[in-house]
Amino acid sequence: MTEFLAFLERSRPDIESALEEILPPVSSRPGRLHAAMRYSVFAGGKRLRPALVRLAGATLGAPADALRSGGAAIELIHSYSLIHDDLPALDDDDLRRGRATLHREFDEATAILAGDALLTLGMTVLATEPRGMSGELRALAASRVGEAIGTSGMIGGQVEDLESEQSWPGDPEAALERIHRKKTGSLLVAALGLGGLYARAGETEELILKELGDRIGLIFQIRDDILDVEGTAGSLGKTPGKDAAARKLTYPGLHGLKAGRERIAELSAEASKLIGELPSRREVWTSLVDYLGRRAR
Ligand code: IPE
Ligand code: IPE
Ligand code: MG
Ligand code: MG
Ligand code: MG
Repeated sequence: MTEFLAFLERSRPDIESALEEILPPVSSRPGRLHAAMRYSVFAGGKRLRPALVRLAGATLGAPADALRSGGAAIELIHSYSLIHDDLPALDDDDLRRGRATLHREFDEATAILAGDALLTLGMTVLATEPRGMSGELRALAASRVGEAIGTSGMIGGQVEDLESEQSWPGDPEAALERIHRKKTGSLLVAALGLGGLYARAGETEELILKELGDRIGLIFQIRDDILDVEGTAGSLGKTPGKDAAARKLTYPGLHGLKAGRERIAELSAEASKLIGELPSRREVWTSLVDYLGRRAR
């Protein structure tokens, strides 16, 4: 197993138990909504984002309780983004993480509301946990993540992604990486930034994490685009071929698969330089970047 996958496996039990503690029980009202939230959060996601919060925090010496709650909050927000991304009005997907999407398993209203509830819960956790940290720092954590997932970040990217289905924008090369950076990169940058914030990183360290998060975000989404072309429903846990069918602006769609792989190699080399400037855990970061560029799901 590679260094990063070993790190992910070591982190997993604590990531899962934090989510379990934070999510309201099915026995409390509205039970069906809580069941829906849990259906999506405990569907077998990779837990990449909480692992990134932890890795960034561990690299710079952040306290474990902050990384635990902060990582869980990011994963709740990520789960919300997927539930809404799959809705008929957006990507209209039936399969997610190897099972029926939430609106298919439950119903559309429940999926919309479960997404709303996961987003709200994630932001609340950032603003209130960990108790031992100053209110000022918690407010900063919540506002930075809020900005990353708002109209200048994730939601802005989702809007442009959907618009591209109608017609590709005038400068598709520039639009493509902008969309990828916003819809996917923003949350990954925020995950790294959160680890840095909890470690009270200095300006230089924060900048390295931001730049590294940017490369990681692009690599992640280019690989996601490639997998949509090359993967199978069995390996991906989601329906392949959806991007081309919807005429979305994607890396393989615009530049081809080979160029996509080349761009990943280029970004990985940039990431590698940034990793060299980190104070610790460099082998784990290197193995993470390698994994992101080659992952099969
Ligand atoms: C999928 O994210 C959504 C994108 C941003 C492309 P992941 O591939 O991390 O999804 P899970 O959480 O492992 O299912
Ligand atoms: C999803 O991008 C990005 C967000 C959820 C913000 P995709 O639409 O490419 O993700 P998949 O392929 O459905 O997982
Ligand atoms: Mg989408
Ligand atoms: Mg989608
Ligand atoms: Mg995709």
